[in-house]
Amino acid sequence: MVYPIVKFGNPVLETEAEEVREFDTPELHTFLGDMFESMYVAKGVGLAAPQIGVSRKIAVIDVSNGENPADKLVLINPTIVKTEGKQEGEEGCLSIPGFREQVKRPKRVTVQALNVKGEKFEMTGEDLLARAFLHETDHLYGRLYITHISALKRDLLKRKIKKLQRAGDWD
Ligand code: NI
Repeated sequence: MVYPIVKFGNPVLETEAEEVREFDTPELHTFLGDMFESMYVAKGVGLAAPQIGVSRKIAVIDVSNGENPADKLVLINPTIVKTEGKQEGEEGCLSIPGFREQVKRPKRVTVQALNVKGEKFEMTGEDLLARAFLHETDHLYGRLYITHISALKRDLLKRKIKKLQRAGDWD
């Protein structure tokens, strides 16, 4: 099933999610399938469970946008273990639709996570994949990408969102 995406302003997005402790269950497999489906429908390259209102440390990533099955990644209870270099580029979030900001990020990032079976793995990504590791892991700790832009830009963006909320164009 396709879940609606929760938007900025919903507290679930700014709350640390619960760790996953049960693995390889039919519920988890179904949930992961639903997460990929929801991400593809929303045309994202990553989706974290809190973005569909589920406060659990689960994220899915596919930087190929459904083009290459080998790019499908599941991160459960992820932590960032190493970062190197720098990159700067535009970043957006399905929960903050219509906005994109320049965000400085490390260029190469190593994430440690569990797979659907609860097995620990480590993976290093560069460029867009590195950005996705950071962005999605942040979500699971209640942090949005706008915490990485200047306070001035963040306040401006929040003011624009408040206007949209008042106009009923944001829910
Ligand atoms: Ni996001």
